Amino acid sequence: MQSVKIGVLGLGTVGSGTVNVLNRNLKEITRRAGRGIEISRAADRDLSSEKNCNTDDITLTDNAMDIVNDPDIQVVVELIGGTGIAYDLVLQAIENGKHVVTANKALIATHGNELFAKAQENGVTIGFEAAVAGGIPIIKAMREGLAANRIEWLAGIINGTGNFILTEMRDKGRDFADVLAEAQALGYAEADPTFDVEGIDAAHKLTIMASIAFGIPLQFDKAYTEGISQISQDDVKFAAELGYRIKHLGIAKKTEHGVELRVHPTMIPHRRLIANVDGVMNAVLVQGDAVGPTLYYGAGAGSDATASAVVADIIDIVRTLTTDPENRVPHLAFQPDALTDTPILPISEVVTSYYLRVHTEDKPGVLADITGILSKQSISIEAILQKEPEKQGGIVPVIMLTQEVAEKNMDAAIAEIEALSTVNDKIMRIRMESLG
Ligand code: HSE
Repeated sequence: MQSVKIGVLGLGTVGSGTVNVLNRNLKEITRRAGRGIEISRAADRDLSSEKNCNTDDITLTDNAMDIVNDPDIQVVVELIGGTGIAYDLVLQAIENGKHVVTANKALIATHGNELFAKAQENGVTIGFEAAVAGGIPIIKAMREGLAANRIEWLAGIINGTGNFILTEMRDKGRDFADVLAEAQALGYAEADPTFDVEGIDAAHKLTIMASIAFGIPLQFDKAYTEGISQISQDDVKFAAELGYRIKHLGIAKKTEHGVELRVHPTMIPHRRLIANVDGVMNAVLVQGDAVGPTLYYGAGAGSDATASAVVADIIDIVRTLTTDPENRVPHLAFQPDALTDTPILPISEVVTSYYLRVHTEDKPGVLADITGILSKQSISIEAILQKEPEKQGGIVPVIMLTQEVAEKNMDAAIAEIEALSTVNDKIMRIRMESLG
C-alpha cells in the first residue's frame, strides 16, 4: 500500500517536533498504522531561518495554501496557531476533502462547531488531541476511555506557563514578571503571553474538554476567565499556612441548573495529588459516575511532548482512512445531532467557598463590622487569621476562609466591606475547591 502523504503547516516548536518524532519512530509508527506515513511537504513563513528538524526529504514552501490545494496531500497538519490564516487554511483543507490535524486550541474553541460540521459534510476528520494539555491524551481518554460514564466534573491545570509561574513564586519566592520571561525563553508561553497569565489559553482548552465531557456545543464566549496576575507572594504564603495551594484551574461542572465553565486561581488542599503538579506540567482530574476520580498527568507543552499528540492523531486518521465516515468516533464524543443545549451558568450563580484577604486599619470594631456584613449575606466563616500589623501605616491583613456561598452574595458582601472607611485596598478573593 502507498504511504499516506502529509503536509505540515508551520515548522516552529510543534512543527519541528512533529517531523522529529515521526522520523525517529517511523518503524514503530508504521507497524501501528499499518501503512507508511510520509511528511512530503511543509510550509513555513520564514524559510531562511534554520529549523530544529531535518527537512532534507521534505519539499518546502512559504505558501501554505499550496499544500492545502495539493491533490497528493491527504492529511494537513496545521501548526501555525491563532484564528487568522490558520482558519482559512483548515477550512480550505476540509473543503478539499483532506483530513486535518491541529494543535490549535483557539481555533477549535472558537470555530470548532462550524469546522466539525464542515468536516462531517465532507467526510473528513479533524484531530485535535494536541490542542489540550499537550502530550496528555486527555481527549482520547474522555471521548473513548470514559465513554461509559456520566462525567460529573473535571478540573485541570491546563496552562504550563501559569503553573510554572505559581510554582516558582511559591518555592523560590520569585517575581511574577521574572518567571514569565523565563517561560517565554523556554518556548512554553503563547505568542501573546497574556493568553497564558490571564487564563484565555486555559479557557480555550477547558471549553473543548467541557464539550467532550457533557455533550454540549463549544461555547468559549460563555467561559468565565480570570488570570493569575493579581496573586501576590502574601496569598501564596497565607494559603500554605492554612494547608492549601493556589493553582490556576479550569473547572467544568455539570449541575442541575446548567454547566459551570470557569478558569480562575483556586485554593485546593495541599494533600490532593493535583495540588502537587508543579512547574510546566499539566494534569486533568475527571470525575465519572462509574469510574470515580481519574487523574491524567504529563507535559502540557513543549516540542516533542505536543508532537506526541499530533502524531497519534495522524496515526488514528491513517488507520481510519478506509472506514465509513459515519462510523468514526464523533469529534465531540457525542453524535453531532445528540449535543444538548444545557446552559452555561454565569459566574454569579456559581457556589464555592472563598479565601478573602482584607487589609484593615488596626482599630477596635473593624473585624466586627466585616463579620457583620458577611453574616448579613448569610456567609459563614470557616477560619480566620489575623496577621501582625504591617510595619508601615499599621495595616492589618485579615485572612478569612468562608463556607460555600453563591458568587452574587459574595460580590455584594465584598462591595460593602470595601466601602468601609477602615478597609484599605481592594479585597483579594480566591475561590476554593475541595476536589474530593
Ligand atoms: N502556552 C501554553 C502553555 C502552551 O503554557 O500551556 C501549550 O498549550
